[in-house]
Amino acid sequence: MAAIDELHSVRDLVRYATSRFTAARLVFGHGTDTAFDEAVFMVLEGLNLPIDQLEPFLDARTTLAERGHVLSLIEARVETRKPAAYLLGRAYLQGVPFRVDERVIVPRSFIAELLAGDMVGPGGLVEDPDEIGSILELCTGSGCLSILAAMRFQNAFVDAVDLSRDALEVAAMNVTDHHLDARITLHAGDLYQPVKGRRFDLIIANPPYVRAGAVSAFTPEYATEPIMAHLGGADGLDIVRRILSEAAEYLHPSGGLLCEVGQERAALEEAFPATPFLWLDTENSHGEVFWLPSGEFPN
Ligand SMILES: C[S@@+](CC[C@H](N)C(=O)[O-])C[C@H]1O[C@@H](n2cnc3c(N)ncnc32)[C@H](O)[C@@H]1O
Repeated sequence: MAAIDELHSVRDLVRYATSRFTAARLVFGHGTDTAFDEAVFMVLEGLNLPIDQLEPFLDARTTLAERGHVLSLIEARVETRKPAAYLLGRAYLQGVPFRVDERVIVPRSFIAELLAGDMVGPGGLVEDPDEIGSILELCTGSGCLSILAAMRFQNAFVDAVDLSRDALEVAAMNVTDHHLDARITLHAGDLYQPVKGRRFDLIIANPPYVRAGAVSAFTPEYATEPIMAHLGGADGLDIVRRILSEAAEYLHPSGGLLCEVGQERAALEEAFPATPFLWLDTENSHGEVFWLPSGEFPN
């Protein structure tokens, strides 16, 4: 690795990684959108520096061991095409760190931004966060959304469900890391099955919603993630349909469902033409998440 003798500063490493990633035509979308942002994330996280503070460290020199470590991460990203989060074992959502490995999809749900934004609070869909006492998260994966929800709704107890026992092992580590074992209960099972007969103030879901045809054409980066985290059947809506059809049974009358569906808004509206979905935008998404209050669900 000749580069180790020539690259000394954080700036050198970020520049090198950006060039390497661009030349290798990597695909992004697992927390970063460009070669530069990916390079910054990998270099800062690889050096155990705050991932949102590049500027103060740009001209800091690195030790031989540090640059050896970062250069091996850069090479692994190019050679394996695995998302950076898997190579580093960590991803951030709304600035909150989560452990990740190949048992879970890399956290990036737009629901995280909605929970942090003005959807919650005076004039929002949830006026008073303190009045939310119970939350059901379907398809929890790494547990990231349950954890962010528990942080946002301080009085809430969260039940988080996933069909993958592998994913739940990762979720359990994250729940413990964030000291939320007393308020988040993890369940293995198929959608609502583990919470039969119960009702909640809020249901949150970022389910698998990718069409089978798109899954089979995944780039290596996306193909590394568990297929059951993506696969939504022929039209992408297999799981979303099931979530919708049973949600009313599991919600209190003042409750609602917040659900991400990716690019399937048009297909969903076509399938449920009489259902008044409220589509919520975020900084980087338009109409990929809907809100549906109790009482508005399709029969
Ligand atoms: C898109 S991932 C979302 C993970 C996490 N909530 C997030 O936003 O990063 C979907 C998750 O749904 C789980 N899943 C798939 N089918 C399921 C089912 N029938 N019941 C419960 N969970 C399911 C997968 O194992 C995967 O962890």
